[in-house]
Amino acid sequence: MSVVMITGGMGFLGSHVAREFLKHDYEVVLTDVRVKRGLIKDIEEKVKIVESDITVPTQLNETVKENDVDAIIHYAALLSSEAEANPEQAFQVNFDGLWNVFEVARKNDLEAVIFASSIAAYGLGVPEIVKEETYTVPFTLYGISKQLGEMLGLWFYRKYGIEFAAFRYGSVIGPGRRNGGASAYSTLIIQKPAQTMPYVVNVPETARIPIVYVKDAAVATLTAYEKIRNLESRIYNLASIIPSPKAKDIAALVQKYLPNAKIAFKPDPKTTKIVESWPRDLDITRAHDDFGWKPKYSSLDALVKDFINDVRDRPDMYEI
Ligand SMILES: NC(=O)c1ccc[n+]([C@@H]2O[C@H](COP(=O)([O-])OP(=O)(O)OC[C@H]3O[C@@H](n4cnc5c(N)ncnc54)[C@H](O)[C@@H]3O)[C@@H](O)[C@H]2O)c1
Repeated sequence: MSVVMITGGMGFLGSHVAREFLKHDYEVVLTDVRVKRGLIKDIEEKVKIVESDITVPTQLNETVKENDVDAIIHYAALLSSEAEANPEQAFQVNFDGLWNVFEVARKNDLEAVIFASSIAAYGLGVPEIVKEETYTVPFTLYGISKQLGEMLGLWFYRKYGIEFAAFRYGSVIGPGRRNGGASAYSTLIIQKPAQTMPYVVNVPETARIPIVYVKDAAVATLTAYEKIRNLESRIYNLASIIPSPKAKDIAALVQKYLPNAKIAFKPDPKTTKIVESWPRDLDITRAHDDFGWKPKYSSLDALVKDFINDVRDRPDMYEI
C-alpha cells in the first residue's frame, strides 16, 4: 500500500484525514513543526510521527526519503487570521513552504500532491452560489497563498506529471478544530455545548456560510487520491450541507440533542463583516461528477448528532 505523508498532520484536518487513510490500510507519516499528540491519541501507535518544518527543505527531503513516501497531503499553513496578523511568517510558511513541498515531490518523483485550498481563494464580489470556474481575486494574504497553491499544483502537474488535486473547503467543522478565525463559531457552537460549556456566538443568528464536516472532507481526500490518475479537473469545492445552514439552525439542533445547552448570540461587527463577505453556497457538482464524492453528512441533523457523539466519546482528545 502507498505511503502518504501529511504535512501539518497533527492539526485538525490532518488528524482526521490520517484516520481515514489508516482505515484503508495506507501507511501514514504525520509531519508537523511541533509534535502535538492531543488530536492523534487514538492513532499515534499506528502512524509515523516526524517533527519537520516545511520551511526547511532538507527536513522535508529527509522525511520523504527515509519513509519512501509516495504522496503528500499538504495541510501545514498559517490560517487566515494568523496570516493577516503575521504576514512575513505567513509568507515563509504559506508561500516558500508551499514551493518546498512541490519541489520535494518533484525531486523525489512522487506520485501526487493534494492541497488544502479554501473558499478564501474566491475573494469578494462572487455570486451567492459559487462554481469552481468563478474568477478568483482573493483579498487576503491567506487567500492569495491558496490561489498560488492551486496554480503551482497545476503547473507541476503539467510540467512534471505530478498528479494533483486541491479542495476549496468551506468552513471545515468537526471535533478538535482550533478556536480562532471568523468561521470558528460554526464548530464551537456544537463543540462547546457538547463539552457542557456555554457558548456565545459572535455572528448574527441569520449568518450563513458553507460548511463541510471534517469526516466528509477526509473521505473526499481519500477518494480523490485513489482516483487521481483519472480526474478531469483538479480543483474542487467541498461542502456538506446545501444550502448552507443559518447559525440559528445549527443552534436549534444542538438544543434538540442537548436540551441544557447554553447558546447566546452576541454578534461582533468585525467578525460579521468578514463572514458576510464569503460566498453563501458552494456548487459541489464537480466533485461528484469527477470522483463520485457525495457528503455522507448532507443532513444537518445527522451531522450535529455525530459531532456531539464524537466529542462525548473522546472527551480527553477535544479539549479546547
Ligand atoms: N479548518 C478550516 O476550516 C479550513 C478551511 C479551508 C482550508 N483549510 C486549510 O486546511 C489546512 C489544515 O487546516 P487545519 O484547520 O487542520 O489547521 P491546524 O492549524 O489545525 O493545522 C495546521 C498544522 O500546520 C502546522 N504547521 C504550521 N506551520 C508549519 C510548518 N512551518 N511546518 C510544518 N507544519 C506547520 C501547525 O502546527 C498545525 O498543526 C490548512 O492549510 C488550512 O489553510 C482549513
